[in-house]
Amino acid sequence: MAGTAGAVAGPPLAAAAALLALLVPAAARSPGAAGCEVPPGGRFDCGPERLLSRAGCEARGCCYEPAGPGPGPGSGPGPPWCFFPRGYRSYRAENLTATASGYSAGLRRVAAGFLPGEVGSLRLDVAMETPARLRFTLRDPARQRYEVPLATPRVSGRAASTLYGVQVSQDPFGLVVYRQRGGQVLLNTTVAPLFFADQFLQISTSLPSHFISGLGEHLTPLVLDTAWTRVTLWNRDMAPVPQVNLYGSHPFYLGMEDGGSAHGVFLLNSNAMDVLLQPSPALTWRTTGGILDFYVFLGPDPKSVVRQYLDVIGFPFMPPYWGLGFHLCRWGYSSTDITRQVVANMTAARFPLDVQWNDLDYMDAKRDFTFNKKSFKDYPEMVRDFHRSGLRYIMIVDPGISSSGPPGTYKPYDEGLKRGVFIRNATGQPLIGKVWPGPTAFPDFTNPETHEWWHDMVKDFHDQVPFDGMWIDMNEPSNFVEGSQDGCPNNSLEQPPYVPGVFGGRLRAGTICASSQQYLSSHYNLHSLYGLTEAIASHDALLRVRGKRPFVISRSTFAGHGRYAGHWTGDVSSDWEQLYYSVPEVLLFNLFGVPLVGADICGFVGDTSEELCVRWTQLGAFYPFMRNHNDHGTRPQEPYAFSPAAQAAMRNALRLRYSLLPFLYTLFHRAHSAGETVARPLFLEFPQDPNTWAVDRQLMWGGGLLITPVLEAGKTKVSGYFPAGTWYSLAGVGAPLPRHGGLRWPHGLHHPQQRAVDPLASSPGHH
Ligand code: NOJ
Repeated sequence: MAGTAGAVAGPPLAAAAALLALLVPAAARSPGAAGCEVPPGGRFDCGPERLLSRAGCEARGCCYEPAGPGPGPGSGPGPPWCFFPRGYRSYRAENLTATASGYSAGLRRVAAGFLPGEVGSLRLDVAMETPARLRFTLRDPARQRYEVPLATPRVSGRAASTLYGVQVSQDPFGLVVYRQRGGQVLLNTTVAPLFFADQFLQISTSLPSHFISGLGEHLTPLVLDTAWTRVTLWNRDMAPVPQVNLYGSHPFYLGMEDGGSAHGVFLLNSNAMDVLLQPSPALTWRTTGGILDFYVFLGPDPKSVVRQYLDVIGFPFMPPYWGLGFHLCRWGYSSTDITRQVVANMTAARFPLDVQWNDLDYMDAKRDFTFNKKSFKDYPEMVRDFHRSGLRYIMIVDPGISSSGPPGTYKPYDEGLKRGVFIRNATGQPLIGKVWPGPTAFPDFTNPETHEWWHDMVKDFHDQVPFDGMWIDMNEPSNFVEGSQDGCPNNSLEQPPYVPGVFGGRLRAGTICASSQQYLSSHYNLHSLYGLTEAIASHDALLRVRGKRPFVISRSTFAGHGRYAGHWTGDVSSDWEQLYYSVPEVLLFNLFGVPLVGADICGFVGDTSEELCVRWTQLGAFYPFMRNHNDHGTRPQEPYAFSPAAQAAMRNALRLRYSLLPFLYTLFHRAHSAGETVARPLFLEFPQDPNTWAVDRQLMWGGGLLITPVLEAGKTKVSGYFPAGTWYSLAGVGAPLPRHGGLRWPHGLHHPQQRAVDPLASSPGHH
């Protein structure tokens, strides 16, 4: 077998210090089958990019054992058939030296890899940034590679005492991070070899427990399954279904440890990637570009882990108070008359409503920054009338800019062309895809000039229609033709040697060509940042145009999004399964620092039912962002569209929310100022109680309000888990709830027409 010789550790590296001691490899791998005695759950795939025969597998120096249901190789549901023997060599660490912030070492490749563009020498930097935060990077010292343009804290110096200790294993190279107190190993990359090729970077680690949560955006339970799960990150316009990459990328996980301590790991990398979970338990990061830039957060409690993560990516923005009220939308409010009627119906039926929305219907030929001069002829007056009655107004804006009109007929495109704001194809021309208005160009929000242009378009439109917030959709970016109207070139960015498990099988599926060019880098590198960069541009434009705290809701997200905008969970179906999944989605986005999140209440795709819509409204009253939104052509689902009994139940749910708005607003302020969550999983409050760790059919607001919604059809009773303590029913009768009881809806707490009035309105700094 290749790679079996010479795996003997060298002498301990110099400069090994108390906190960074050298771990001498336990034993040199013995040749032959001995190194192959790896329990199935701990086998790491040696054939990630293609199916290998026994001969092909052994030619790589790997072990071949057909086992389990197969297909085995690749990302099958069981152990890989071709796997690395223990001690498989890839890089060797040399010249470990102390630096101002921690340590650095050189890594030298000592055995041939099997993917093109292997980087022979790497530099490891370990920065002990704070007592609870460690950062380590692996870069190519000879060549500047793409790095995510996210402003993270600049730290000089080294934390004096830390919760963590680090050990470096020399040959094969590996890194171990453990808790100083108790010695629990949190990260151990010696379990499998490191790969660092131009378009294939891979590092594996053991996990201290099976409890791991995060790695969005997917339709998943709160706790991920470590039984051979592949989690793909590559932003995609995709109606949520399990096991598929969705609209956002959050390469962060939180792990719980025996005893209730928690840690977190963030890989600051925006390339298409797979994260593989396996039962030993272990995790493999496999990304297709950039560098390996890791943050490890030591907690030790889960709330601290979230705050430490947000210290790096940014605390959430503070939404305006009105943004926490009830929002109503649908695709199909096809005129101002209809939109006005919707509002009138809400008032007549005594439902609170703070924000009325319009979908594409308001636009002229589905083009941004235009409105239909017939069906929406009194559009500006409608918005002003809404304002007069205390309502706010939001409309949809898509990133694709219609490119097919004659010159001089559509300013956003004409100006955009002149100012060079569009993403370019291989020939340097704006790449043209197809979205709602037909052929479209895609603004490149990594270009500062695009932000200026976007601001100018937002301002022009706002001068006509004084909207209050922006709904940014289709920003993965979504494209109805693969790549572009003219296809995509053939090159290594379009056909990388390893393609993660993206829906559609190709990076360009549902989006633009990976090799198209943006201001900062290729779309290949920047794709998953499209929504974030558009959210920043929209947030900033609104701030400049309105002079007030902006309100932006975006479909696509990336780490750091919560600093600028909120998120709705896209095209969920009107069914009970999706009602349930909305709970973990909302909880996960709170862990990701995007607390302003909610699903379309009553569901978006397909017809809702009265019962589902009532239950969804009752749960939705506890989404931090509460909006009922519906697809065109489906059954109406505004609260007033149902029977008197259903309306009464929805009214009660809304009253309850409105009675709690000051509390909700306070929670947002704490998120904004202290890095807390708003809607939170139970384990954040009760980490010592392992029964709470996987609870995702209940949620909390802050530390004291536990919500146990009905998530199933035909049920009038719910069971929930109540952690130790005294729980009071919010019905306000003062009687503690029985241990297994639901939240009971109070009656007549507040006048239903009460609007969200900002209690901080007169304090300095809040508008
Ligand atoms: C897709 C969005 O997810 C949905 O909410 C919207 O209604 C449609 N686009 C039409 O704009």
